[in-house]
Parts: sequence; structure tokens; C-alpha cells
Amino acid sequence: MTTFDPHHEQASRRLAHPSEPFGKFSSIGKRYDLGGGESLTAIEDVSLNLEKGKLISLLGPSGCGKTTFLRIVAGLESATSGTVEIEGNLISGPHPDFAFVFQQPNLMPWRTVLRNVLFPLEVRGEMNQSGRERALDLLDLVGLAGFESRYPSELSGGMQQRVALCRALVHDAKLLLMDEPFGALDELKRMEMHDLLLSIRERTNVSVLFVTHSISEAIYLSDTVAVFSTRPSTICETIEVTLPYPRQNQMRYGQQFNGYELAASRALGIVR
Ligand SMILES: Nc1ncnc2c1ncn2[C@@H]1O[C@H](COP(=O)(O)OP(=O)(O)OP(=O)(O)O)[C@@H](O)[C@H]1O
Ligand SMILES: [Mg+2]
Repeated sequence: MTTFDPHHEQASRRLAHPSEPFGKFSSIGKRYDLGGGESLTAIEDVSLNLEKGKLISLLGPSGCGKTTFLRIVAGLESATSGTVEIEGNLISGPHPDFAFVFQQPNLMPWRTVLRNVLFPLEVRGEMNQSGRERALDLLDLVGLAGFESRYPSELSGGMQQRVALCRALVHDAKLLLMDEPFGALDELKRMEMHDLLLSIRERTNVSVLFVTHSISEAIYLSDTVAVFSTRPSTICETIEVTLPYPRQNQMRYGQQFNGYELAASRALGIVR
């Protein structure tokens, strides 16, 4: 096994052994030191494999450690125990091939909408006409055409979150980490975003970890739903969703979908 150097291009291109998963998260634990000898164990022994191009949802109650887990995978937080491997490389810090959509939009208030979306391309030195066109296309797709020159403070929370989504999708990330990205959107927009995410995933083969509270959102989007227990959390059940792609809205009302909802509700302890 090699230690991952995020600034070393060769390292980021190194391929995992064909039988290895794209992402391998092994026995991850996180204990927060609260000071005064107190500590809080947020997650305990979480293991998960993410195959290339697959989407796994992390479903669980508030406070169980979903954001903590995602931040560890992103290299933004260190684990107390366990390892994160992407393509066979140990991850110990942020990586330019990862994209993150946080629970809050975290836009730069001094930049216009378009310049916020273009930021990852600037950082990567990939600013060109096609990148600009992609940014404008994405803004159009999420219903923000005409808002390119506005500033974040002039947008609603849901609109800001859609800008953050465009920013994550503007470059071809290998790993997309999404933390309740559609929580601030109305039902209709959220369903449109589901189809947009799935079509982008199909086109780019990006691998996705998607945190949500919503059982139906998890099922509609996922190849696998990983259900987290209450804190200190582990994965108490994984549900393989075999609904065909492309997913279609009428599937949400079908018997098979309903069966998955029941299985997830049971795993969460909502129904017996
Ligand atoms: N920096 C921190 N210091 C101390 N405790 C923390 C810190 N960050 C998170 N926690 C604690 O860890 C636990 C898990 O938090 P986390 O934000 O990962 O939960 P979550 O599953 O994402 O919740 P939600 O669904 O409400 O977003 C919580 O009890 C929280 O109080
Ligand atoms: Mg969270």
C-alpha cells in the first residue's frame, strides 16, 4: 500500500488493483475530544466499499455521524481509527479530484454566481471557453439562467444551494461527496435535481457518496443504501437497490420501491 500525496499527479492517476473497489473505507471511527477529559464517539467501526461509478446513500438519524464520516472521506477531518483508500491510495487530506457539496452552500459572497461556479476550474488552471459553457449549461439546468451576474446575498437559500451543486459538477470529479445537498429545495426542484444528478453520474461515471435523511431520496438515487444506527454509529444495514436505470418518477409509487422504503424504515427503527 502507498501513502497518498495529493500534490503528486502520478499518485492521483495510479490505478487500484482490478479486484479492489474504487473507494475502500475500513473500520472508520471518530472520537471528538470535548476537553476536560470528556469525549464523544460519533462513529464507531464504519466499513464500506464504493465501486467505481456507483452511488451509495448514507441514511441515518440526525446526529449519528453522517457528516463526520463524509468529512473524513473528503480528507477534511482525521479519523481516530481506520483508513480511507481511493484507488488503492491512502487519503490523508483534500484532493483536487474530489468535489464536495456541503449542507450549507458556502459560496464566496464577493464573487458572482458564475464566478463561484467557475472557482474549481480556476484552482485547477482549467479555465477555458468549454468550462465556461459547461458552467452556463449547468446554471441553466438548475433553473438559474439569468442569475449569472448576481451575488449570493441576492439569492434564496435554495438558489444558493443549486449554485453550490453547479460548482461541484463543473469539473469532472472522480468522487462526489454530497451532504444533504437538496434539503433546502422544494419537492419539485428536488426531484428534478435527482434526475440531473443521475444523468451526470451516467455521463461522467463519477462515484458518489450521498448523505440524506430522506428514505425515498436515498432509494431513488442509489445503487446501495447504507443505513447508519444511532450514535455511536455503525452501518446497521445495507440495502441493494435493483430498480433499473434510468430511474423514472413513476417508480417512486411502485411496489418494489415501497418494499425498499419498508426495509429502510425497519432498519431505522421507524416501523417494526
Ligand atoms: N467538531 C466537533 N466537535 C465535537 N463534536 C462534534 C463535532 N462535530 C460533530 N460532533 C458531534 O458528532 C456527532 C455527529 O455529528 P454529525 O454532524 O456528523 O451528524 P449528522 O449525522 O451529520 O447529523 P445531521 O443529520 O443532523 O446533519 C454529533 O453528536 C455532534 O454533536
Ligand atoms: Mg450532517
